[in-house]
Amino acid sequence: MRKNIVAGNWKMNTTVAEGVALAKEVNEALAGFKANCDVIVCAPFTHLASIASVIDQNKLGLGAENCADHKSGAYTGEVSAAMVASTGATYVILGHSERRQYYGETAETLREKVALALANGLTPIFCIGEVLEERENGTYNDVVKGQIVDGLFNLSAEDFGKIILAYEPVWAIGTGKTATADQAEDMHAHIRAVIAEKYGKEVADNTSILYGGSCKPSNAAELFAKPDVDGGLIGGASLKCADFMGIVKAF
Ligand code: PGA
Repeated sequence: MRKNIVAGNWKMNTTVAEGVALAKEVNEALAGFKANCDVIVCAPFTHLASIASVIDQNKLGLGAENCADHKSGAYTGEVSAAMVASTGATYVILGHSERRQYYGETAETLREKVALALANGLTPIFCIGEVLEERENGTYNDVVKGQIVDGLFNLSAEDFGKIILAYEPVWAIGTGKTATADQAEDMHAHIRAVIAEKYGKEVADNTSILYGGSCKPSNAAELFAKPDVDGGLIGGASLKCADFMGIVKAF
């Protein structure tokens, strides 16, 4: 059956020293405690190797926030999936709305990134979600379906089975405005139906679908209680160990 997962997305926050300290703190908080979910932190590229050397990855998974859409070569400033894997990280967030919006990521580039992540043994945390206008004009189910179909449905069932999905309504990210638990559940059930239509019920039932967007200790339990919400991708609240652990403990 699918896993429950709480993953932090630190975005462009913390220096290496601060990030290592935060990862250590989370690692220590998890040490004497049996979490009812997998716990992951996704950190800037610069931090990954240092964090990998101080955490116990049996307790705390480590991921990058992006990777390149090319294997290697003359792409100044890019970081490949192989480089990410070489740090010891085993996850990578792909297709975050901030990357789609500010860095022009398209379904085509994301298909390349997903393929390279998988080829290098990384587990993609693939983000989807509608903007406010699409929520308000009622096209959100189609928009999210389109992102899944265009970004992922080229995969074999076996490879699709390696993907973690994160539904993040863009209007809820960093705004303090969370989707209601019912809105999240409706969308997560829709996403699972879209997957079942293509890959069958078993693959759909085994796919972890995380919710992201102003998830915090005070609302996590209500969201995670929904049958199709398998955890959270946490931005702001992942930057403080106590808040992040508060969300982990919501399971
Ligand atoms: P937030 O970000 O929790 O700060 O809203 C979530 C995300 O963008 O992954």
